[in-house]
Amino acid sequence: MSTPASSAPFILPNEFTTARLVARPARVADAAEIFAAYAADPEVTRYLSWGHHATPATVEQFLGILENAWATGSGHRGYVLRLRTTGEVVGSIGLEQKGAAVMFGYVLGKKYWGKGYMAEALVHLVDWVLAQPGVYRAWAFCDVDNPGSARVMEKAGMNLEGRLRRWHVCPEIGGEPRDCLVYARVR
Ligand SMILES: CC(C)(COP(=O)(O)OP(=O)(O)OC[C@H]1O[C@@H](n2cnc3c(N)ncnc32)[C@H](O)[C@@H]1OP(=O)(O)O)[C@@H](O)C(=O)NCCC(=O)NCCS
Repeated sequence: MSTPASSAPFILPNEFTTARLVARPARVADAAEIFAAYAADPEVTRYLSWGHHATPATVEQFLGILENAWATGSGHRGYVLRLRTTGEVVGSIGLEQKGAAVMFGYVLGKKYWGKGYMAEALVHLVDWVLAQPGVYRAWAFCDVDNPGSARVMEKAGMNLEGRLRRWHVCPEIGGEPRDCLVYARVR
């Protein structure tokens, strides 16, 4: 039986570069740098689906799951983003395929906000996935109170599709699901 084109797994680059960034698959060995760069900061994780980490050990656990996703070629696959000039970790970007759609998530350390880094990475990966056979939709969502993230999606060519009410829990803010804005680029 042949696999329908819309659910065929696609190839992801093992490394990619943009004007200022280099991205490689997230590994357990990145835990200490990720903890120091962003994972322990509650301001950074305010609108994320995970709360800030208290120790590098829990970051390692999460990175173990990502390593496994890279090994199996399925599930949420994350890249660590580093500056090309210094090699320092600035953040990460991840994606997951469900049929013809690929969903993105991303985070930067606070000192790297407002420099256009995330749009650089997202533009690259959105272009990549939409060039793969069987992928027709690149999308992401953000909290209604996170306009910086909405702007990043716009810069990656995504358009606002609507508001998902009571869609997403941000543990840093509280246990109740919050409203989100959905953006997508399609081909
Ligand atoms: C959201 C995040 C990824 C943005 O990345 P970034 O590289 O700093 O984004 P940019 O440098 O492109 O700057 C953000 C853009 O949003 C705009 N912006 C930021 N805050 C804004 C606000 N309160 N209202 C309106 N626009 C705002 C900026 O003006 C800028 O747009 P411009 O370049 O057209 O001037 C980064 O802030 C981050 O990692 N935050 C914490 C984690 C997070 O929230 N991730 C997203 C989860 S959905």
